[in-house]
Amino acid sequence: MCGIVGYAGSVQTACGKPLEVCLQGLRRLEYRGYDSAGVALSAPGMDRVAVRKKAGRLDNLVKDIERSPMPAATVGIGHTRWATNGVPSDVNAHPHVSRDGKVAIIHNGIIENASQLRLDLQAEGYRFSSSTDTEVAAKLLGKIVDKIIEEDGAPDLFKAIRRLARMLEGAFTILATDCRQPDIVVGARHDSPLVVGLGDGENFLGSDVAAFVAYTKTAMEVDQDQAVCVSADHVTVTDFDGNVVEHPKVYTVDWDASAAEKGGWDSFMDKEIHEDPAAVQRTLLGRLNKDGDLNLDEVHIDEHDFKAVDKIIVIACGTASYAGMVAKYAIEHWVRIPVEVELAHEFRYRDPILTPRTLVVAISQSGETMDTLMALRHAREQGSKVLAICNTQGASIPRESDAVLYTHAGPEVAVASTKAFVAQITAAYLLGLYLAQVKGAMFRDEIHQVLDSLKQMPAKIQWVIDTQTATIAEAAKRMVDAKSFLFLGRHVGYPVALEGALKLKEIAYTFTEGFAAGELKHGPIALVDEGEPVVFIVPPERGRNVLHAKVISGIEEVKARGAFIIAVAEEGDPDVERYADVVFWRPKAPTLMSPLVDVVPLQLFAMDMANLKGYDVDKPRNLAKSVTVE
Ligand code: F6R
Repeated sequence: MCGIVGYAGSVQTACGKPLEVCLQGLRRLEYRGYDSAGVALSAPGMDRVAVRKKAGRLDNLVKDIERSPMPAATVGIGHTRWATNGVPSDVNAHPHVSRDGKVAIIHNGIIENASQLRLDLQAEGYRFSSSTDTEVAAKLLGKIVDKIIEEDGAPDLFKAIRRLARMLEGAFTILATDCRQPDIVVGARHDSPLVVGLGDGENFLGSDVAAFVAYTKTAMEVDQDQAVCVSADHVTVTDFDGNVVEHPKVYTVDWDASAAEKGGWDSFMDKEIHEDPAAVQRTLLGRLNKDGDLNLDEVHIDEHDFKAVDKIIVIACGTASYAGMVAKYAIEHWVRIPVEVELAHEFRYRDPILTPRTLVVAISQSGETMDTLMALRHAREQGSKVLAICNTQGASIPRESDAVLYTHAGPEVAVASTKAFVAQITAAYLLGLYLAQVKGAMFRDEIHQVLDSLKQMPAKIQWVIDTQTATIAEAAKRMVDAKSFLFLGRHVGYPVALEGALKLKEIAYTFTEGFAAGELKHGPIALVDEGEPVVFIVPPERGRNVLHAKVISGIEEVKARGAFIIAVAEEGDPDVERYADVVFWRPKAPTLMSPLVDVVPLQLFAMDMANLKGYDVDKPRNLAKSVTVE
């Protein structure tokens, strides 16, 4: 939510680079919010910060700047907004400025004591042009700088932002520029992400590395409750009291700028669905030793601690929680310990039972989801160990966890999660099999067999993409006017049904519900009417899997009531052929592996439906990629 970028270049040369970096960075961060965009630039000699901002997509801002160019600068900050506080409009867009216009800030998060601070400032005669909490922070920061000038005889934006940070309640990442100090950009973070990019004679700031990866792959962490000051040649990180952090962690970003580019695809979503096979493959890579055993030393949890685990609680939101639900079926089957899956926002507020032997697994693509972050903090406070399954290196969730197992899906830019889902299932399966290995819950051969099946999944996913795309596109054309869809599945097909329903609702804005197929007669069947589209995830292993016949009965029941049946089923399944109006075939795969293929046609179907309706599949309305507020 909200994308933030900052750039500090040389004061010797005022040029167009700060603007270029801000706009490029915002282009890459637009998935974090697209309600408005804005930039602020400073250079020696300016008596006010140069600010430009526009409601709507980044292109509106770009066109505005093309019509009326901005001045050359040495430093800049840029913001793309997902509105939390104040409607999307030019006036509410960031940056916001101090009373004298000399200081500008951008902000991600929610400042909870903004109303009180606004009243205090109003009592002193301050006027506000917007209804945002950010403008309150901007006015306050300007006031603090003025106070520092009175005290010290010169502005000190870095000192000022630390004072500001100590006064704010809520969640925030704030970046600021002051035209009297055009050689620096400063930032502060509390419960919201911020990362530094280290360049040569220039430095960068971003909500995530995507902001600057086109310029540098060397990143530096800024931790919770820290402030940072970047100039062309220096980066200083301190706590909010000004104590210098001696050796902030520096790391190399493990993907290229091109990985976050569309590269000829119509949309990021299209590209990312086609990366499903690679996401699974890369997540498996390097995690087996030469004897075919699992080696997860990278997670840095002692084998004894793993052996002691007697319960797993998965915490996650949305798609990531459905990956957790799939993993529950597998891990309970393999390891014989209970696995609970809980929406992170519910977990934290319900007094969950946690012990030092509970392993909490936080699944998150972005690694910044506030609900999941808060839930993991709660689990750690209660003495449980937390292992993160995450796709984003250096994000808050892996940093605050005891251990991390990275998914290697590569950057996911489309707001709707696709390749991250299959990568999350793969990583959670590796974790389950590793637990089975260290606890001796399965024979070595059994584990190897499962791993072999897992290794075959990228090719099977590819088969679905190669052979089913045309059928799926055709089905979307037939169904594009449908008002609602039901999605039904059992066992691991149940979370797949939930995920299929979520994909279609979030990008095609079609009303969908996912149910456990066993629930059909307990209520949902009342919704079935002539022509109602019902999507069934049919279990594989016909004849061996008792649930296959039960799902087929469900299909018969809704078919008898006139439903239009779309089935995801194993190639050539004769029962499905008999009843379904449309079938998306999957190649043969063991039941526990089937979610990795079954979700793929549902992702493609949702994308096709949204495209046919003329929606932007990468940026669905009201949503943002990284939900960094509660
Ligand atoms: C749906 C979707 C969301 C995310 C959820 C968690 O397509 O993307 O439901 O899965 O917001 O996000 P992460 O995985 O970043 O914690």
